[in-house]
Amino acid sequence: MRGKKIIITIDGWSSCGKSTLAKQLAKELGYVYVDSGAMYRAITLYFIRNNVGLDSHREIREALKSINLEFVFNPVSQRSEMFLNGENVEYVIRDLLIAEKVSDVAAIKEVRAFAVAQQQKMGVKKGIVMDGRDIGTVVFPKAELKIFMTADNAVRVERRFKELFAKNPNVTIEEVKNNLEMRDYIDSHREVSPLRKAEDALELDNTQLTEEQQFKKALDWALARKAVKKPE
Ligand code: DC
Repeated sequence: MRGKKIIITIDGWSSCGKSTLAKQLAKELGYVYVDSGAMYRAITLYFIRNNVGLDSHREIREALKSINLEFVFNPVSQRSEMFLNGENVEYVIRDLLIAEKVSDVAAIKEVRAFAVAQQQKMGVKKGIVMDGRDIGTVVFPKAELKIFMTADNAVRVERRFKELFAKNPNVTIEEVKNNLEMRDYIDSHREVSPLRKAEDALELDNTQLTEEQQFKKALDWALARKAVKKPE
């Protein structure tokens, strides 16, 4: 693909389809895709398994020293999967049990510093699409293209419910709705790097868009930014 390599950030509310769009863009542009939420989910899994007290800064600092996070490409699924201390946790971190705790863990200052430092290293060579909540505001404030995704609540609940129900038929729509509302609230009200739209982000509301329409729109933005250097 011609043009310079850029950094693309995709932030927004839970279950807006950020990762779907990020993967499509990365594939089309030959870029690396990084799911920053997977890192917070893996840290949460470690904290749960090791009974780390979320009120204890000492316990949190100690636990973080024992956590090694890695994205490893799986040729079978054709995507990078999250490894926690050498174990593939890609599937277990999608569980509702993790979703119920992850926003509290992601609000912890030490946890964010730990994850953000690693995310910034991944972007040094550019050619990256990263999705999350603070990627355009904190992780890569100088990114060439920042997208902020939104969609109506009901649409988001429905999408996430279908995804989770396929894996666990016991899950209810109320559980999914409550979890999304709780995460949106905590993610956008926390003290450190709350979810917010960067001033220079382009908003993409996909309530009425098909995946294809949304991809085309975002790809046009990306190609335009690749061709034109952003003023310093
Ligand atoms: O994108 P996700 O649903 O997998 O993210 C899981 C949680 O991690 C989400 O509720 C908020 C948190 N998160 C964050 O605080 N910052 C990020 N850059 C990505 C995710």
